[in-house]
Amino acid sequence: PKSKLDPEAYGNQNSTITAEHIEDKLDGLTVDEAMNNNKLFILNHHDVLIPYLRRINTTTTKTYASRTLLFLQDNGSLKPLAIELSLPHPDGDQFGVTSKVYTPSDQGVESSIWQLAKAYVAVNDSGVHQLISHWLNTHAVIEPFVIATNRQLSVLHPIHKLLYPHFRDTMNINAMARQILINAGGVLESTVFPSKFAMEMSAVVYKDWVFPDQALPADLVKRGVAVEDSSSPHGVRLLIEDYPYAVDGLEIWSAIKSWVTDYCSFYYGSDEEILKDNELQAWWKELREVGHGDKKNEPWWPEMETPQELIDSCTTIIWIASALHAAVNFGQYPYAGYLPNRPTVSRRFMPEPGTPEYEELKKNPDKAFLKTITAQLQTLLGVSLIEILSRHTTDEIYLDNESLLNGQRTKNHLLLSTNLERS
Ligand SMILES: [Fe+2]
Repeated sequence: PKSKLDPEAYGNQNSTITAEHIEDKLDGLTVDEAMNNNKLFILNHHDVLIPYLRRINTTTTKTYASRTLLFLQDNGSLKPLAIELSLPHPDGDQFGVTSKVYTPSDQGVESSIWQLAKAYVAVNDSGVHQLISHWLNTHAVIEPFVIATNRQLSVLHPIHKLLYPHFRDTMNINAMARQILINAGGVLESTVFPSKFAMEMSAVVYKDWVFPDQALPADLVKRGVAVEDSSSPHGVRLLIEDYPYAVDGLEIWSAIKSWVTDYCSFYYGSDEEILKDNELQAWWKELREVGHGDKKNEPWWPEMETPQELIDSCTTIIWIASALHAAVNFGQYPYAGYLPNRPTVSRRFMPEPGTPEYEELKKNPDKAFLKTITAQLQTLLGVSLIEILSRHTTDEIYLDNESLLNGQRTKNHLLLSTNLERS
């Protein structure tokens, strides 16, 4: 894999994984065959972390940037083939990185090293999940839409009624998060590996955020896990069939889209009706130019000149605020509540042969593992945080909830909303 980092600033950042590392693990396929048959995937945390890694490693965190190659087996599951762990070059960023490639092993000290390599990947992944997939891509990006909706659309405006239920609690939670979670020295900084660089890093990643790419089908295609296919039910065909987020997500995406299409089409029958709706135009202008002001000149913003642009935009807004957030939030405790399986921090580097740490890894791999991953107090703090985040409120309102739809319901909508409830 090639890096997209600027070679002038960061030297050669391309991967050092070669065909020899993986070609004996592809169920008889060559590397080219595996790629052409969409069987090779990558979990790539390299480019996002490298610019920060030197500084992150001046804190108590000691970790790597990782790339993991995965093979889609005939049984439908993904198997890791190789993990590349990289550090900024000791002589300076312009010299690129020092990288080491690890491959699976189930015997002796090599199996303990493979276990640790996977743990470093999990550290990268859990931090990126919390800071980018969760905080940035749902909580932070939706806030300008909430504010513009409240400021520019009357409470009687149909689009206000459509969106409002999906913004429930968002501002309260974001405000609370700024006080105790994402603030300097707050819970997030002490439980994710980028430590005091956590917020800066997620702000930099926001530069690559593209609103239309947040639509689930577009996101799946962009990530290379689906291809466009007009004969498939949702317009895309999954390359990994056993992918619950995508399979379930596409059903929910389509239900939201069909509801939003019916609802918006009732109020807006022509481009002119979109253009002459002053509140709607003021809403779109504010969220583009003020709320997402850093990105106001991006060419990808829908112009909000047609009913289709309104439908696509509202579907994506509702998707981000409801199902996407639910997917990245509510499974956190069940999935990541056992830290040896999903460590959030690493405190030391991979033991090298000839060191006391390496000898310890040989003699007592569990002890060495625990000395590497998240410390006890941070673990307690992190587990408590995700247990609380994973809880549903007692008055949670779900997408097909009667009271949610009632706010948007007129006589003519009864039929339409019945369709959503059935989906
Ligand atoms: Fe959340």
